[in-house]
Amino acid sequence: MNPEKLCMGCMREKGNAQVCSACQWEEGTPPEHPGQLYPRTILAQKYLLGRVLGQGGFGITYLAWDLLLDRKLAIKEHFPREICNRARDDRTVQPLSRRQQDDYGYGLRKFGEEGRALARFYDYPGIVLLLDFFEANGTAYLVMAYVEGMTFKQYLEQRGGKIAFGPALDIMMPVMDALREVHRLGMLHRDIAPDNVYLNENRQVKVLDFGATRSALREQSQLPAFKPGYAPLEQYSSGGKQGPWTDVYATAATMYRALTGQPPPESPDRLRHDALIPPSSLNIEIPPDSERALLKALSVHVEDRFQSMAEFQEAVVLRDSASLGGKPVAENKTSPQKPRLWLAIAGFLLLTAIAFFVLWLHARSGGQNSLSELSEMRAEIQNLQAKLSAQQSTNTALESNANTLTGQSQQLSTQLEDMKRERDGLVVQRNSLMSQLDSAKSDARSLQAQISTLQAQVGSLQEQNRNLQGHQGARKITVSKYWLYNWDGNRGSSKSKREGPANDFSRNALRYLLCVLQGPNPTHEKQAFSAALELRYIAPDGVIKYTDVVAVAAAREAQTWTTSSDWGSEHPGAFKAGSWKIEVWCEGQRLGQINFEVH
Ligand SMILES: Nc1ncnc2c1ncn2[C@@H]1O[C@H](COP(=O)(O)OP(=O)(O)O)[C@@H](O)[C@H]1O
Ligand SMILES: [Mg+2]
Repeated sequence: MNPEKLCMGCMREKGNAQVCSACQWEEGTPPEHPGQLYPRTILAQKYLLGRVLGQGGFGITYLAWDLLLDRKLAIKEHFPREICNRARDDRTVQPLSRRQQDDYGYGLRKFGEEGRALARFYDYPGIVLLLDFFEANGTAYLVMAYVEGMTFKQYLEQRGGKIAFGPALDIMMPVMDALREVHRLGMLHRDIAPDNVYLNENRQVKVLDFGATRSALREQSQLPAFKPGYAPLEQYSSGGKQGPWTDVYATAATMYRALTGQPPPESPDRLRHDALIPPSSLNIEIPPDSERALLKALSVHVEDRFQSMAEFQEAVVLRDSASLGGKPVAENKTSPQKPRLWLAIAGFLLLTAIAFFVLWLHARSGGQNSLSELSEMRAEIQNLQAKLSAQQSTNTALESNANTLTGQSQQLSTQLEDMKRERDGLVVQRNSLMSQLDSAKSDARSLQAQISTLQAQVGSLQEQNRNLQGHQGARKITVSKYWLYNWDGNRGSSKSKREGPANDFSRNALRYLLCVLQGPNPTHEKQAFSAALELRYIAPDGVIKYTDVVAVAAAREAQTWTTSSDWGSEHPGAFKAGSWKIEVWCEGQRLGQINFEVH
C-alpha cells in the first residue's frame, strides 16, 4: 500500500484525489485544535498518523496506519492538556511550567502502567487489543488495534438517546464480563461511560480507555478527572475507597443512561438529596428484579452497593425475557458459572431432604408397600449422589485446566510481544543496513568510474612520456667528435684537394669547411629519437659568423647517430685570421665546442 494514496481521514485508498470519496476528508487539512499532531506525522518510523479520533483531558487518540504491517490502528498520545503544551517543533510535548514538571512525569509513568495493564488483556475479546507502547516526543504512545464501529454514546445518539432494557443488557453483558476479568486480575477500569464502550461492526463490544492515568493524576494534582454522572462518590475524594464496586456504579450508570437517555445525577449531589428517578417511574419497561438490582448498583454509599461485578450481573440479568418483548439476552460464554452451579447443588440437596422426609413419614405410618419404594428411592438417591460427585470432580478438573491454560496463554502472549518488539527492532536495523549497502554500492560505482578515468589518463601520459623520451634524448646528445676539413682549390673541381680532418687552417687556402658530428644514440634500444642541432661558427671577435641547423635522427636500434654541416665555399679568405670556434647547441643548451686557428 502506498501511504501517499491513503486518506488520512479514514485510512482507505483514495488514489490521487484531493478529497476522499469515502469520507470527504480533504488532503492537507490541519489539526482541529492546536497541540494536536499534524496528519501524516510519522512516529517510531512506522506509524503514520491520521486525523484525531478524540481528545480527552489526558490524551489525544489518532487514527493511524502501520507502515510495516499495512493495518489500521488507533494511537493514543499522553497529553494532559491542563499541564502541558506542544513545543515549537510541533512535536515535543512539554510541561507548561516547572511547577507542573512533577505532575507531568507522574502522569507519564501512570500512562505506562495503563499500557502494561492493557497488555495483560491480550486477546481478551471484550477489551481493545494493545499492540505496542513506545516513548517519543517527550511523551508516550499506546498503539491499539483499530476497531471499526462506534462508541455506545454515538450508538445511543443515533437511536434518539435511549434504547430498551433488552438491547441495553445485550450491550452491557460483555462489558460486565470484561470488567469481571479486569477485577480478577486485581485492576479497576475507573472510567466506564458510554464513550468508553465501543461497538464494532458485528455488534461485538469492546471496553476502551482505562482511566488509571487520569485517576492517578487527579489524586496527585487535583485535576478534574471523572465523568459527572458516571463516577461514584468515592472517586470524588482522594481517600475514597475504590474497588470493583466503583466500576459497578459506573456500569449501572451507563445502563441507566441507555434506558433513560440521561446519566444519574452527580453522586455528591445525591448525597444531600437523592433525585435519582427509577426507570419504571419514567414509564420505562424493566423487570422489577432488574430495576432493583440497577438501583442497588447505583447506591451512593459503597457499602449499600454490590461488592462485585458478578453479583450485580447475576442480579440484573433478565430471567423472563418474554415479559419485555425485547430480544432475549444472549447466553454469554464467560457469564458466571459458579453461582448457577451452587444453585443446582442447593436444589439437589433440598430434593434429597424432601425425599428423606417422605421416607420418614412412610416409615412412621408403617405402610407395607413403602419398603420396596424405600429401597427404590434409596437406590435413586445413591445414583444421584454418585452423579453429583462425578460432576463435581469434573468441574474441579476443568477449573484447574482452565487456570493452567490462562497462565500459559498469558506467558505466550508476553513472549509474543517480546518477539514482536525484537522483530520490529530487526526490521529497522535491516532497513538502515540496506540503505548503507546501497550508498556503499554507489560509492563503489563512482570509484570504479574514477579508476577508469585515471587509467585513461595514465595511458595518455605514458604516450606523452614516450614522446618526451625521444625529445629528452636530444638533450642528452654529447657530441663525441667532430672534424674540420679544408679544401684547396674550387669545390667540386677535379683538382680540388681535400685535406683534413685538421683543426687549424691557412687563411688563403681555406675555402671550405665541413664539420662532421657523431655520437652514441642516447635512447638506444628504447626509442627512436630526432633532434635539431645548431652549429654556430664564431669568429675571433666573438661574432657569430654563420649558423647552420642540422637534423639528427636515429632508429631505435641504431647505436650511434651522425650528421654534418658545411660552409665557406665561395669567399676565399672569408675566414679571418685568429681563434675561431664552432659551438654545438640543442634546445638552448650548449653541448660542446671545438676551437681552430686560422693563419
Ligand atoms: N481502538 C480504537 N478503535 C477505534 N476508535 C478508537 C479506539 N480507541 C479510541 N477510539 C476513539 O477515540 C476516542 C477517544 O479514545 P479514548 O481512549 O476513549 O480516549 P479519551 O476518552 O481519554 O480521549 C474514543 O471515544 C473512540 O471514538
Ligand atoms: Mg474515552
